[in-house]
Amino acid sequence: MIDNDLEGHWENVHSKKKENEVSWYQIYPKTSMDIIKSLNLIKSAHIIDVGAGESRLVDNLLKMGFYNIDVLDISKSAIDKAKRRLGNKSSLVNWIVSDINSFIPEKKYDLWHDRAAFHFLKKEKEINNYVNLAGNSISSNGKMVIATFSSNGPEKCSGLEVTKYNIESINKVFKEYFLLEKDLITNHSTPFNTEQEFLFSSFIKK
Ligand SMILES: C[S@@+](CC[C@H](N)C(=O)[O-])C[C@H]1O[C@@H](n2cnc3c(N)ncnc32)[C@H](O)[C@@H]1O
Repeated sequence: MIDNDLEGHWENVHSKKKENEVSWYQIYPKTSMDIIKSLNLIKSAHIIDVGAGESRLVDNLLKMGFYNIDVLDISKSAIDKAKRRLGNKSSLVNWIVSDINSFIPEKKYDLWHDRAAFHFLKKEKEINNYVNLAGNSISSNGKMVIATFSSNGPEKCSGLEVTKYNIESINKVFKEYFLLEKDLITNHSTPFNTEQEFLFSSFIKK
């Protein structure tokens, strides 16, 4: 089941705005790619980008030679735009239009990536649901990279309130299933010449 208000919000954003007219736009997702490269995953690794939007992460994962990539977003427009950008290569990707709150995975993932989607979860029930979902859907020793606004980051993203995290609070949320391996604070320069502080946390499944 999809939350219609939430879906409506994101459909509106992705259908009305160009890729580079949203604050989270990156021509190249450098921090994510640097972390993923450092993980030395095999090319057959099952990867999911959660709340991927129109991110170019998938383009770069394909360039690296990965071929088991799932891209999930609540917005069909976002998925359609990413597919169009990739052209023929889009058939190499498994596209999923779903609310993460009701996603039922059909496989175990070796890498779970989420930049600026998890932080929209505000209710304890939804956060717990996400943690259990990731905990049960990532293979043993699988990796998870979560990027959220840091405690110094903005209160809102796309006009919606977010939960901001620091190392202690993100670790506390995921520690039942995951060990925190690396964390990194980065500044994202938006297309509107503002800065947003992100916390990237890299976990391994226990
Ligand atoms: C701030 S954008 C980040 C997009 C992308 N990860 C990036 O770094 O460019 C958040 C994305 O998460 C998606 N999203 C928000 N809530 C979601 C949910 N409950 N389930 C799935 N996707 C969601 C939105 O449609 C949007 O594409």
